[in-house]
Amino acid sequence: MSSKISALQKARADYQPKLPPALLDGAKIIVNEGAPTTSVDHQNEIKALFPSTYGSPMITFEKGKKAQSDKPLNAGVILSGGQAPGGHNVIAGIYDGIKSLHPDSKLYGFLGGPSGLVDNKYLEMTDKIIDDYRNTGGFDIIGSGRTKMEEVEQFEQAKDNCLALEICALVVIGGDDSNTNACLLAEYYKDNNIPINVIGCPKTIDGDLKNEYIETSFGFDTACRVYSELIGNIQRDANSAKKYWHFIKLMGRSASHITLECALQTQPNITIISEEVAAKKQTLSEIVEIICEVIIKRAAKGDNFGVVLIPEGLIEFIPECKTLIAELNDLLAREASSFARLQTRDERMGFINHNLSKDSSYVFSSLPREIQVQLTLDRDPHGNVQVSLIGTEKLLSEMAAIRLKEYAVEGKYKGKFTTQTHFMGYEGRCAAPSNFDADYCYSLGFCAAALIGADKTGYMASVRNLTKSAPEWISGGVPITMMMNMERRHGENKPVIQKALVKRDAGPFYELIKNRQKWAVETDYLYPGPIQYFGPSEVCDQVTKTLELEHTK
Ligand code: FBP
Repeated sequence: MSSKISALQKARADYQPKLPPALLDGAKIIVNEGAPTTSVDHQNEIKALFPSTYGSPMITFEKGKKAQSDKPLNAGVILSGGQAPGGHNVIAGIYDGIKSLHPDSKLYGFLGGPSGLVDNKYLEMTDKIIDDYRNTGGFDIIGSGRTKMEEVEQFEQAKDNCLALEICALVVIGGDDSNTNACLLAEYYKDNNIPINVIGCPKTIDGDLKNEYIETSFGFDTACRVYSELIGNIQRDANSAKKYWHFIKLMGRSASHITLECALQTQPNITIISEEVAAKKQTLSEIVEIICEVIIKRAAKGDNFGVVLIPEGLIEFIPECKTLIAELNDLLAREASSFARLQTRDERMGFINHNLSKDSSYVFSSLPREIQVQLTLDRDPHGNVQVSLIGTEKLLSEMAAIRLKEYAVEGKYKGKFTTQTHFMGYEGRCAAPSNFDADYCYSLGFCAAALIGADKTGYMASVRNLTKSAPEWISGGVPITMMMNMERRHGENKPVIQKALVKRDAGPFYELIKNRQKWAVETDYLYPGPIQYFGPSEVCDQVTKTLELEHTK
């Protein structure tokens, strides 16, 4: 880390994150076990695939009696997948937690994500390293990566590397795919009597790793606040200059939680929610029609400006595109080598068109060339289309421009339509964590240490009751198998953690539809401003609107 740090970073280093009451005296806790659990779906398949870890009970912690472990508990930690604000605090929480269990416990950070564990590249954490990174954004303390860990050879190499360091537990800090792999690893080690436990921590700015017991993934709060600040600034610019329509695509690979949260924080004119598009089976042209309707209404009032929020994963939720992408995924997985041999773009597009069904070939051909190419780019190691590379914001703004010209010819639109497009994602992933994320992440790390001390495996650290203040937080563990179902990946059925999509029958979405007409036509923007780290609690310690509306009756 650079020896020069900003004044904010310096002040922030002294911030003491809050902990749930059960962990205030250290990570040696009393474990309360609930009834055995079942997976969210496909119970028989998941049980057969995870015979050793399936059915474990839910766990909640109670304050222990301060006694320590009789021997040091060495742990390893991996950051996996995309960056999310607060990752460093999770590591600080694990470090402080295992030290509270036994002062000679050691924490090893594997470098660059899961590949560091397999290749035995690691850094032993020290007080100095941890202190340098407390309450900072980023994952640079040990780096992250997207290597998929699901092969027995990888599990075996990881085992050898861990046993050589006398590591008894690994903490995987990741999203749904990484925690799915953590569960596979936990199962393999338990099944083979290998004395290494595996614990997961719910990370992703996307906010889609959540359920009844995991109320939110860390990083969502901070990232949404950063984007909302920027959207607010753009709205103020739009409302000052009154000459641009801004099309803003927001990260969140699949679910639209980020877009919805930012909409609730900023009140833009148009908010597209992918889950609604899928439920209403809207086509691309219908979405363009919805956008044009608002543009025309505002133009009639003389307002030739506005803001449209578009979720990154939209394309995969438009039914005709979803079928196309599923076919493309299977085709590109099946014919990977033949496809890679094709030299020119025309050859590649021709090959795809030839191998798609009639309907999908029609949809594919109707898309602009640029989008066609973007849809055929390499999948990520988990088989996902890299939606951050698809220019949906440009696609929609260009399609709206074409449609508005037609309306103008018909005499139904007399406005001026000039656009700016933006993509917000990377700007928010490494921001200094908000107070909420700083506290939540440190608590998750400490909770993971408590699960290590309690000799648990295949669990995800859980801190609940988050809309209340930290003294009311409930800490414990959730069996990862409980969150699983079977899904099609890389052309095969695989066990995966079920993604939490935006629910159309829950508070956050209701709040949007309640206000949608008003926000569309009026200029009712909110300008949330930057994250505040110091100051009155009502400014610094807010939870997201999503959490508030999901958990306040
Ligand atoms: P995770 O699910 O790993 O947390 O990553 C989320 C994300 O930020 C998505 O919002 C985005 O689509 C993707 O990562 C971008 O990936 P990359 O960092 O590889 O470009």
